[in-house]
Amino acid sequence: MRQILKVQIKDNKEYLIDISDSSFAKLNQEVFEYTKGQKRLVIMSKKVYKLYSGDLNFSDDEIFILPDGEKEKNYNNYLKIIDRAIQIGLTRKDVIIAVGGGVVGDIAGFAASTYMRGIDFIQIPTTLLSAVDSSVGGKTAIDLPQAKNVIGTFYQPKKVFININFFNTLDDRQYKSGLGEIIKYAFIEESCNYKIPLYLFEFLTLSCQKILEREPLTIIRMIEYCLNLKIAVVSQDEKESGLRKILNFGHTLGHALETITNYKKYAHGEAVIYGMIFIIELSYKREYISYSYYKLSMDLFEKYGFKSLKCKYPTEKLIEIMKKDKKATSKNITLIVPCEKKQVREIKLTPLDIEYAMKELYK
Ligand code: GLY
Repeated sequence: MRQILKVQIKDNKEYLIDISDSSFAKLNQEVFEYTKGQKRLVIMSKKVYKLYSGDLNFSDDEIFILPDGEKEKNYNNYLKIIDRAIQIGLTRKDVIIAVGGGVVGDIAGFAASTYMRGIDFIQIPTTLLSAVDSSVGGKTAIDLPQAKNVIGTFYQPKKVFININFFNTLDDRQYKSGLGEIIKYAFIEESCNYKIPLYLFEFLTLSCQKILEREPLTIIRMIEYCLNLKIAVVSQDEKESGLRKILNFGHTLGHALETITNYKKYAHGEAVIYGMIFIIELSYKREYISYSYYKLSMDLFEKYGFKSLKCKYPTEKLIEIMKKDKKATSKNITLIVPCEKKQVREIKLTPLDIEYAMKELYK
């Protein structure tokens, strides 16, 4: 099975996303055809290299292996990638390919966008999370010790190849972390201004079993639904000056949890799940949503085995981190909250409001 989606952004930028369950041999052939005549620099995480270098036909001298983990998305590794690009003589006509999860995609994209002022870039996501989120939409970044994603660019890939066979080696925790970003789209569907109702909330409720069993056709459909929503958002607001902020639903507390635990305790999607549950609980307490929507939402999380956080981190510290969020102003913290079923809006709360809500919810 195969689905092709088109991303169309202003200034005539457009590219295709190819979602399929075809063999790795076919993937190799397609990537090689697509990059014919170009020199390739392939950034791969160590784990992906171990698992898939035999299936993927890249030669060792075109592969740069990035150690695993968020902490590797740093300036030193960025310079090493650039150094390698210079060493192999990559020119403006050539291409950088990311094969991995969000960390690899972000740093490889940043390198592609800055090397010689920008060269071609291809994303081959190997995790469910990067397939439904970071591989599409053009956000690239590296982290500094002080903050995540603080240096970066908006730089769209030339093509995204999503092959769901990579997900067979994800452990349960990684797979379910991807479901965190997927559930996010169910809560924002109607705010995305996508032309056709997808009923993602209902789809995720009814197909839970098949999704957890990783049934290939259901997975392809689920990715297609999420990406249709993401494409709708990104094509209206590539640089996150407005609408795109809704993609950060659940991320304000989510990022704070990742930061306070030094990116070691929570996978990104897990942190986003806790963030979404927190904001839904807060919204119910503040009467932004009805009890029935609150209950329906909690039932969806429960169906997938997700529970609310038992927060043992100092509230004041979490808030200090939230204040450094790119969307925060000097006085307020910006939050994306649910308002109606499948709709979200932006609100600004003072740190004190959030502190009060957290103390109430996590007492
Ligand atoms: N991950 C959120 C975005 O792409 O805007």
